[in-house]
Amino acid sequence: MRTWLITGASRGLGRALALHLSARGDRVLAVAREPAGLHALADRCGPGRIDAVPLDLADAGAIRPTLDAAIAGAGGIDGAINNAGIGAYKSFLAHDEAELLRILQVNLGAAMQVCRVVLPHLAARGGGHIVNIGSDLGRRPLANMAPYVATKHGLLGFSHSLLREVKDQRIRVSLVNPGIIDTGFGGGQEGHGDGHHSLRPEELAAQVVAVLDAPAGMVIDEITLHPLGQSDF
Ligand SMILES: NC(=O)c1ccc[n+]([C@@H]2O[C@H](COP(=O)([O-])OP(=O)(O)OC[C@H]3O[C@@H](n4cnc5c(N)ncnc54)[C@H](OP(=O)(O)O)[C@@H]3O)[C@@H](O)[C@H]2O)c1
Repeated sequence: MRTWLITGASRGLGRALALHLSARGDRVLAVAREPAGLHALADRCGPGRIDAVPLDLADAGAIRPTLDAAIAGAGGIDGAINNAGIGAYKSFLAHDEAELLRILQVNLGAAMQVCRVVLPHLAARGGGHIVNIGSDLGRRPLANMAPYVATKHGLLGFSHSLLREVKDQRIRVSLVNPGIIDTGFGGGQEGHGDGHHSLRPEELAAQVVAVLDAPAGMVIDEITLHPLGQSDF
């Protein structure tokens, strides 16, 4: 059994990842703001699989104490998936300043903070894995999503740079760039896609787990996955 920290685990891709990993016997420290979604996930997965970790990643000061306690409660950790992400489709100036800073913090600042908490544990264990969920927008521009796109570009540079710092400690860092996913991101409704124009969260989760399952001496440093029917790539 391995133990993974997953942010944004209450719905969407994060929940699909938690379901996949717990179904094969792993333990998940599941982070999100709303406890209800985390408890529903824990009930679905059965005893000993999900530790609900309510945490607002926009609250930078709460991240270390909350995660330190969760990791200590689990007796250590094998890796983390920085999956939580937020964004709004509107012009740059229509983002108010608080919203702008929240997007930067949740998508990028918090991912770095999670790494700062988790990396010493992985080094002490002799290795581990960090997966950052980016976006196909990490490598191209999109009008009306400038703050979100900036965070995904930032996550790309961070992931590749961090990998080069920690790989000699047998710590792998992988960046997964999805195209459109059939989730409620940005106010949509999860589960209404046809599997052609948007990625099914459970199918994408299986590919992320394949990244985790790469042979120990191999790192998949970046992958991009699009639904065939996505028109803008
Ligand atoms: N959906 C897409 O088309 C798409 C495409 C490319 C990349 N991505 C990326 O894929 C990742 C997952 O997206 P998704 O579509 O699964 O999103 P989602 O369905 O909107 O789920 C987002 C998750 O993040 C959590 N979250 C949001 N704000 C948080 C905060 N301040 N603190 C802690 N948790 C927070 C949410 O729970 P709470 O609300 O309870 O906190 C929820 O569990 C994101 O990084 C996103 O940028 C998505």
